Amino acid sequence: MPTTINLNGKPVTVNAAPDTPMLWVLRDHLGMTGTKFGCGAALCGACTVYVDGVPTRSCVTPLSAIAGKKVTSIEGLQGKVASAVQAAWDKAQVPQCGYCQSGQVMAATALLTKTPKPTDAQIEQAMQGNLCRCGTYGRIRTAIHDASKQLEGKA
Ligand code: FES
Ligand code: FES
Repeated sequence: MPTTINLNGKPVTVNAAPDTPMLWVLRDHLGMTGTKFGCGAALCGACTVYVDGVPTRSCVTPLSAIAGKKVTSIEGLQGKVASAVQAAWDKAQVPQCGYCQSGQVMAATALLTKTPKPTDAQIEQAMQGNLCRCGTYGRIRTAIHDASKQLEGKA
């Protein structure tokens, strides 16, 4: 049954069963492979996208739940905060294997959009659902502080 969503600013229609996880819709039906499969059980954050601006685990969100909604994947992430996060990520050389990083960038951008000057504790709380097997947590924290300074005009 066709379902229409707005993906990264454009309407797209998907022919898939309503219970198909959004992650598979993005990766297999729409060819958007920047969003990763980690655990498939809402535990790791690798599959994070935004649904109507809210960070959402796409591995456990069925297509039926996003009909008519605005979905933003890493491919469509843009704007001042996202640019600052991506620049800070480059500067701090955050990624190791990179597998978790699109989810990390989505989560960090959501954090800084809501909380432009987060404390370490706020960073920890906002990012705790995004796991990294390579242990890049320290660099992630550094990059988030750096992006915050860039946005404040102090970096
Ligand atoms: S793959 Fe969705 S939270 Fe791990
Ligand atoms: S950079 Fe390898 S899992 Fe995070």
